[in-house]
Amino acid sequence: MAVRARARLEIRKMRPDDLEEVMVIEREAFRHPWSLELFRRELEHDWSTILVGVEPLTSAPGKGSERIVAFLIFWLVHDEVHILNVAVAPEHRRKGIARILMAECEKRAHQANAALMTLEVRRSNQAALDLYREFDYRAVGVRPNYYVDEGEDAIVMVKELKRES
Ligand SMILES: CC(C)(COP(=O)(O)OP(=O)(O)OC[C@H]1O[C@@H](n2cnc3c(N)ncnc32)[C@H](O)[C@@H]1OP(=O)(O)O)[C@@H](O)C(=O)NCCC(=O)NCCS
Repeated sequence: MAVRARARLEIRKMRPDDLEEVMVIEREAFRHPWSLELFRRELEHDWSTILVGVEPLTSAPGKGSERIVAFLIFWLVHDEVHILNVAVAPEHRRKGIARILMAECEKRAHQANAALMTLEVRRSNQAALDLYREFDYRAVGVRPNYYVDEGEDAIVMVKELKRES
């Protein structure tokens, strides 16, 4: 798997003061975006993690010294990691950023000794399907009309992880 060099990309956990920047990406990425309130609540759940990919703009610390270009939301429940959402700002796509976030999520799943990764994806979302297949997720089922907005099916994908005994 080719991970293109992204020396300037850093991954960290989302903070409440990132909300507006993350919402810009969310609204650009999805026809039916989550609300700001939903993201706010997600930040409060112990089982939920939102990773953001940031590009430093200056070496000075603090707000305004970096730009958020992508995010990934996952839940850790018992020994399962469920990926709810991954999105990259349109002008930063196809540079390997989603791949870096997916790899970081999987690393954290291993660290938590999770056994299974799961996610759902729209049947028509070829970019995401290709991304997940690259990470060896396999389709195990279909939820018909899962996305009520357009009545689109969801493909359910899973990936088993090797656990430390
Ligand atoms: C899906 C998405 C997150 C991919 O982000 P990205 O940073 O552009 O992806 P990467 O550059 O890391 O691509 C990794 C691999 O995924 C696949 N892929 C990514 N974008 C693709 C596209 N438009 N068409 C086909 N395959 C694609 C390719 O296999 C790619 O590898 P390659 O570039 O070497 O061919 C991005 O297109 C996006 O934000 N889409 C809108 C939101 C969304 O649909 N999210 C997923 C559902 S939750």
